[in-house]
Amino acid sequence: MCGIVGYIGKKEKKKLILEGLGELEYRGYDSAGIAVMKDGKIDAFKATGKLSNLKEKTKNFTSNGEGIAIGHTRWATHGKPTEINAHPHFGKHSYIVHNGIIENYREIKEMLTKKGVVFLSQTDTEVVVYLFEHNLENSKNAFEAFEKTVISLKGAYAILLITTIEPNSIFFAKNAAPLIIGKNSDEVFFGSSDAPLIGHVKEVCYLEDGQYGILDKNEIKLYLNAKKVLPIFKDLPQDRSFAQKEGFRFFMEKEIYEQSSVLGETLMGRIKDNEISLEEIDEHLLDGINAVKICACGTSYHAGLTAGYLFERFAKIRTDVVIASEFRYKDPLLTKDTLFIVISQSGETADTLEALKIAKNAGLKTLAICNVDNSSIVRLADTTILTRAGIEKGVASTKAFATQVATLWLLSIFIAQKRKTADKKSLKLEIDTLLKIPTSLHVDNAVHEKIKRLSKRYLHGHGFFFIGRDIFYPLALEGALKLKEISYLHAEGYPAGEMKHGPIALVDSKLFTVALLPKTMLYDKTKSNIEELSARDATILVISPEQFELADDFIKTKNSSHAMNEFFEMMIILQLLALEIAVRLGNDVDMPRNLAKSVTVE
Ligand code: G6P
Repeated sequence: MCGIVGYIGKKEKKKLILEGLGELEYRGYDSAGIAVMKDGKIDAFKATGKLSNLKEKTKNFTSNGEGIAIGHTRWATHGKPTEINAHPHFGKHSYIVHNGIIENYREIKEMLTKKGVVFLSQTDTEVVVYLFEHNLENSKNAFEAFEKTVISLKGAYAILLITTIEPNSIFFAKNAAPLIIGKNSDEVFFGSSDAPLIGHVKEVCYLEDGQYGILDKNEIKLYLNAKKVLPIFKDLPQDRSFAQKEGFRFFMEKEIYEQSSVLGETLMGRIKDNEISLEEIDEHLLDGINAVKICACGTSYHAGLTAGYLFERFAKIRTDVVIASEFRYKDPLLTKDTLFIVISQSGETADTLEALKIAKNAGLKTLAICNVDNSSIVRLADTTILTRAGIEKGVASTKAFATQVATLWLLSIFIAQKRKTADKKSLKLEIDTLLKIPTSLHVDNAVHEKIKRLSKRYLHGHGFFFIGRDIFYPLALEGALKLKEISYLHAEGYPAGEMKHGPIALVDSKLFTVALLPKTMLYDKTKSNIEELSARDATILVISPEQFELADDFIKTKNSSHAMNEFFEMMIILQLLALEIAVRLGNDVDMPRNLAKSVTVE
């Protein structure tokens, strides 16, 4: 995801900014840029690809002496990863870097276009710098123009703006995207995370949502709702790997906790006026389509299986879900009335890529659900919906899965809208629930503590069954996969109703069963299946909003009226359970043995 660095002071600014951006590289990006203002003049450079390309471009540029600099690594959301779309974006006198998504950028762009502004890029960011310059025309000063600009923005943003009109200052604003100020006696730093500030400053101010202001090296003027507020500085821990993990023990843990905010990014701009709006999708994509085939591997396959239920139930479209490595050699029967969907976090998985090629060669319309823009799968598919999970470092996928499921849920509603298979009331219910999902994905500390304690009872035994029905069956598969991947314990996911057809033969007190028992879906049926296991003395951990008397262990979830709320809450519990068991076993949670994050071989 995007990264921001800023600096006011005497040091060599180009070097500082490039080093700072280097600290943010791990978040993933596809282009980068820098702007340096000195003596009222701004020099700017941008390059696609790695930071080394920007370093090469700026190798003859020096920036010693009093001045200001801003830098950015961009992870494309609006517009391709080209040099024009890279930040900083600029107007006549001003340059801006921005993380996040400006939801109302189209309205602003339309208004400014009518006034004669010509936009170069496809980004949402460029409108902000032009809006600021437009506001300058009828404001007392640059700060007033900036304040007016910030007030009219909707969405998520961390912004740094520099302008020759105010040559000693940086304007900044923060809402739903992180921005941090660090200060020494004669210099100021900005970062979109701690990492670039470590080693440079000892204290930092973590800006709050809605705050904006202007600072020079002597003074920070900070505002919230047009009222001046005092910046609060805190000690900055000086350990870099700690900073990248933002205080969590593992990247996987950080990524589990991040799911609430990244889901906000997945949804951003995609729900408008109580409708799903997917601007990436051509309006004719679904013309002549009567079926969907989904292909993927691993965790992405589990997201696909979940979508299979959502698509058939809600969008009323026949859906077939196949593991990509199986699809490749089964001489699949492909008909042109089928929309072929591939799901991949990395966009590079060889089996999924090959499956996509087969579908393309057969003349099918293809759609990728992917986390990495410009990856091989994205480049090959006719259409892509990016999941916007940000870079995922833990090999065991967590937030990528959550965003895939949310994207597929969005898509199922979108298809239902287009095919008119759902009435207004049920569409509204889906959209209202979807909008609240980021909130319901907050990790409950008490639940996490309980799982930490419980985990010690699940370290031995001869295996795990994860069971669930309907969409909770793919979730059970995913829970079992998470546990296998990082604990190296044997775990299998099963449809709860299938146990009696074979697997139940394995059951005894050393067989641990993790049972997903949602209230909104097949509660009584699943309960009976769990009772069958209990009767055979299985050790059972039940996850449910309803107390279950036969459970050996019980994790209570919230009461909810929608299955997807229960799905996401249980997903977090399963991820934390796998994490805590693996931690107790002393395993390398982020880099488990034998596994790779991106499997580019068959
Ligand atoms: C590898 C990873 C899994 C992942 C699978 C599919 O096996 O270890 O975590 O689910 O590939 O990856 P993709 O990038 O296509 O989603």
